[in-house]
Amino acid sequence: PLPPKFTRPLVLPKTARPTSPGRYVVTQRPARMEIIPGTTTEIWGYDGAFPGPTFDLRRGEQAVVTINNDLTVPTSTHLHGGVTPADSDGHPLDLVVGTTRPHHGGSTLHHRTRDYVYPLDQQAATLWYHDHRMDFTGPQVYRGLAGFFLIRDDEEDALPLPRGDRELPLMICDRSFEADGSFRYPALDPTLLFRHGVRREFMEGVEGDVVLVNGVPWPYVEVAAVSCRLRLLNASNARRYRLALRPGGSFTQIGSDQGLLERPLTRETITIAPGERYDVIVDFARYPVGSHVTLTDLLGGDVMRFVVTRRARDDSRVPSKLARPQPVDNPVARRTFDFRVKESTWTINGSPYLPGRSIAAPRLGTTEIWRFASDFHHPVHVHLGRFKVLGREEQGWKDTVDVRPYETVEVAVRFDGYRGRYMLHCHNLEHEDMAMMADFDVV
Ligand code: C2O
Ligand code: CU
Repeated sequence: PLPPKFTRPLVLPKTARPTSPGRYVVTQRPARMEIIPGTTTEIWGYDGAFPGPTFDLRRGEQAVVTINNDLTVPTSTHLHGGVTPADSDGHPLDLVVGTTRPHHGGSTLHHRTRDYVYPLDQQAATLWYHDHRMDFTGPQVYRGLAGFFLIRDDEEDALPLPRGDRELPLMICDRSFEADGSFRYPALDPTLLFRHGVRREFMEGVEGDVVLVNGVPWPYVEVAAVSCRLRLLNASNARRYRLALRPGGSFTQIGSDQGLLERPLTRETITIAPGERYDVIVDFARYPVGSHVTLTDLLGGDVMRFVVTRRARDDSRVPSKLARPQPVDNPVARRTFDFRVKESTWTINGSPYLPGRSIAAPRLGTTEIWRFASDFHHPVHVHLGRFKVLGREEQGWKDTVDVRPYETVEVAVRFDGYRGRYMLHCHNLEHEDMAMMADFDVV
């Protein structure tokens, strides 16, 4: 039976604490957690937590994160949305081996531990980190290897937005469970050591019947009748949500994947695909004290509930100007990437992922037009590059765009930061594990 809705309080992940200024140590390990009341679930978590600890850092203050791997499987940790040197980007074949040593052709192996260096020289934004192991990202994220990574800066701090406990990071993901409380993921090899992939009927992506927010099924949270900032992240393997508020109300979107928009935007619904973030303000003062406000998914069911408990003073507001305008530069090249299923493999430009093969070589500091064509729903994610979706200008700077079936989306993507090997891929994690990825080189 499914757990009851809105009976368990929302939990906020712990904040990562440095061991010395700018240095963090995180150990990936199994742990047991009560997700379904009366049972426990074995999770794999950063510091044994799902979600992992939230990094809450400032622009330009470099963080060095040591990842220790006490799991049986290899891992690779990717800071999604980070402007990160290539050797710390968490490439799927740049692995930290755990307590056993399965073979991955063409990989670089670190023994049990490594440091990731994050310069964080980028606009304030809601980033997240998650596992990115070649062929096994889907099952390893499903078991819990994901967490928030927030970057703040002076420009954002100067705005009178809600802050402190009026700012809630919300990681939304769906899961299914066995009767004993364990995660139900249709892996062909449940040890995740040898054979990758899922049972045939799950090739299009694994969706669950329980919606978790920060690891709690359909939680509730008590809020004062004030404006709150919700940092929404869809960390699901394959499910997209169309979020709305019941009984009515709207979201004021202030930010996107890569940080604040230039100006706020009112939205009745928010469609969020795997990997995407929406930074929104909800004004709970418009509901009477005692109201239940449900965050619901028009494509599925409910997500969580806000219980408005009392009036309170609110000095926050949403200014009409948010981020400094950052116009798109003239593009210097155009490329097309065609995301398509071919004889039951998931391909980009006709080919599944081939280690060592680079599909493009954009120049550092330039902007290109990348056109994504698709035969299915593919949330396309580009590492390093930040882009604006052409014709959907209001979305701000992004790193993940939901390309709908038979749709063609053009983005103006800018490569700043570092030269080296990065990748683009579908963020439906089952498509990704079935090789819908490609490397490119920033030169
Ligand atoms: Cu969030 Cu390459 O992934
Ligand atoms: Cu896909």
